[in-house]
Amino acid sequence: MSQIYLNGEYLPLDQAKISVLDRGFLFADGVYEVIPAYGGRMLRVQEHLQRLQNSLDAIRLENPLSNSQWLNVFEKILTDNPNQGAGEDKSIYLQVTRGVAAVRNHGFPEEINQTVFMMVNELPPVNKEKLRAGVAAITLDDIRWKACNVKSISLLGNILLRQQAHDNNAAEAILINDGLVTEGAASNVFAVINNVLVTAPAGTQLLPGITRDLIVELAAEHNIPCEERGFSEAELLSASEIWFSSSTKEILPVVELNGKPVANGKSGPIWEKMIDIYQACKAKLRSGESS
Ligand code: PDD
Repeated sequence: MSQIYLNGEYLPLDQAKISVLDRGFLFADGVYEVIPAYGGRMLRVQEHLQRLQNSLDAIRLENPLSNSQWLNVFEKILTDNPNQGAGEDKSIYLQVTRGVAAVRNHGFPEEINQTVFMMVNELPPVNKEKLRAGVAAITLDDIRWKACNVKSISLLGNILLRQQAHDNNAAEAILINDGLVTEGAASNVFAVINNVLVTAPAGTQLLPGITRDLIVELAAEHNIPCEERGFSEAELLSASEIWFSSSTKEILPVVELNGKPVANGKSGPIWEKMIDIYQACKAKLRSGESS
């Protein structure tokens, strides 16, 4: 039984209870984070905490814990849920809601006690050979709201888009807003266009992925030309490589888009280079050489 954290208590999952009047349940009034941990060491945890703070600020909810308190809880919950086997990794899921209010009312309650929930999930081992096989994707109109930079638990738009992709035998959707690529339903998107790695610029139309930012940084360090700029659906359709990135998917090539092969239908040379760089970065973290 996994051990979870709920409002200051560490409990077995089946003993965790929250009120049906929690605003997370009634309104999806809250934010979340997903932090990968390799060999028990969290990747870019400060960046995740900063993004959490940004999300809380955006929804006008006070951060219930200081960064050092968050870090203590992360360490404890990772220790309480040890890896079962060699090569197994974990991710921490945390969510903060605007808590329980006695009456259902859209406006904020006068007194707020945030609900803080955290659990640890298994991160399936990422095997380069398996990743290399890639996935199919489809483009869909980005039906979401105008604050996609907030990591909100209101994910109905993302859920419907992901399901539409599945209904079309695709693993993920690539979202198009006003003719421009934003991101995936639960990932960021990169494309190689004229030998330059391109990803949409940070803004209110996409989540500033921690994996995305790391890839942009690693590209600069390893002299891989990379631009953060708006790019059109037409450019995407002509790209020689397309990737998804996220804390749980890492870097996943798209080999089929809208039923047609991307370039020759295989993962490309820039992905081959980047995945090795990314894996090396994880290996350093695991061995304690970097944080
Ligand atoms: N989702 N964009 C969206 C809409 C996402 O939901 C995610 C991640 C990302 C990538 O962000 P990061 O690199 O920080 O994981 C981009 C997580 C994994 C989830 O919802 O489970």
